[in-house]
Amino acid sequence: MDQNAHRAAEEELHRIIGDSEKTRTILEQIKQVAPTSARVLITGETGTGKELVAYWLHHLSARHDRPFIKINCAAIPKELLESELFGHEKGAFTGALNSRPGRFELADTGTVLLDEIGDMDPRLQAKLLRVLETGEFERVGSNHPLKVDIRIISATNKNLAEEIEKHNFREDLYHRLNVFNIHIPALRERPEDIPVLARYFLDTYCRQNGVSSKRFASDALDYLSGQSFPGNIRELKNLIERAAIVTPGDEIPVSALTPNPTPAFTSENQLFTRTRPLSQARNELEKVFLEQQLARFAWNITKTAVELNIERSNLSRRLKQLGIQKPDPYA
Ligand SMILES: Nc1ncnc2c1ncn2[C@@H]1O[C@H](COP(=O)(O)OP(=O)(O)O)[C@@H](O)[C@H]1O
Ligand SMILES: [Mg+2]
Repeated sequence: MDQNAHRAAEEELHRIIGDSEKTRTILEQIKQVAPTSARVLITGETGTGKELVAYWLHHLSARHDRPFIKINCAAIPKELLESELFGHEKGAFTGALNSRPGRFELADTGTVLLDEIGDMDPRLQAKLLRVLETGEFERVGSNHPLKVDIRIISATNKNLAEEIEKHNFREDLYHRLNVFNIHIPALRERPEDIPVLARYFLDTYCRQNGVSSKRFASDALDYLSGQSFPGNIRELKNLIERAAIVTPGDEIPVSALTPNPTPAFTSENQLFTRTRPLSQARNELEKVFLEQQLARFAWNITKTAVELNIERSNLSRRLKQLGIQKPDPYA
């Protein structure tokens, strides 16, 4: 693929769909702030499109052909995040066999996305604040200051005002990061976007998988528009892809869009009424709950762990213990 075709394909992949007033405001804000070097804080629930917005902030800026580096602060164990960001020198800590540049160094002249910034450890928040104030940092285990030219974009699904109240997030850092705020409303606050998004995801799915195009039955889009989508656009996209997979014909009926009926709630199973040891009931209930939540967040373990407020490693362990596996449509 030549450069232009490659770029067009990339951009197609990142299209922001929706013609609600709220979506138009977001597109306006992206156009206004992308070409500047202002720091932007993107807020919104999980699955609302924060990474998508960050992509455009970088790609519509003068830095578009420079590095764009994303770091998910919730996915990297907190002991490792500092060296991930700033790099380390050989021998700085057990296991640091070689010197390694951090993502800030690698992103020099480009853009860094600090995703899930609300999950950053307060100790590291203090270090980050200093970098934002002075523009300088050191690799872990070094006292040689480094200076880089990076634009910082951050994103979070947390309410940072509340986190500041609870002393989980530094207010001074918040002001440094939040020079410009783009807030993405939840999908249920802009239901007008649901039909266009649904059609877009259905068409894209059929095209990418080489199946003949499908459409929605007349009541299907109304049905979707009435749903609350706690997992937002990611949940909608996932639901549409699943419906496309399970519908052999060319018309998607409402029944293909309703959540999988869980065996848990059938009368034979009697999940809540059958008498057995509490520990067994607890495991059975937890299993159903986790399966439902994972489906909601498209089997993104990191995301689900964040939403359920547990460590990712604990969630993974529970999935193994309870024998929970990713069903086919997500694999
Ligand atoms: N307005 C939109 N138009 C098209 N796709 C979208 C839109 N918003 C989000 N998406 C898609 O939904 C999914 C979740 O978006 P993402 O940016 O990862 O959300 P977040 O980072 O807020 O959790 C991605 O597949 C993304 O491409
Ligand atoms: Mg994200």
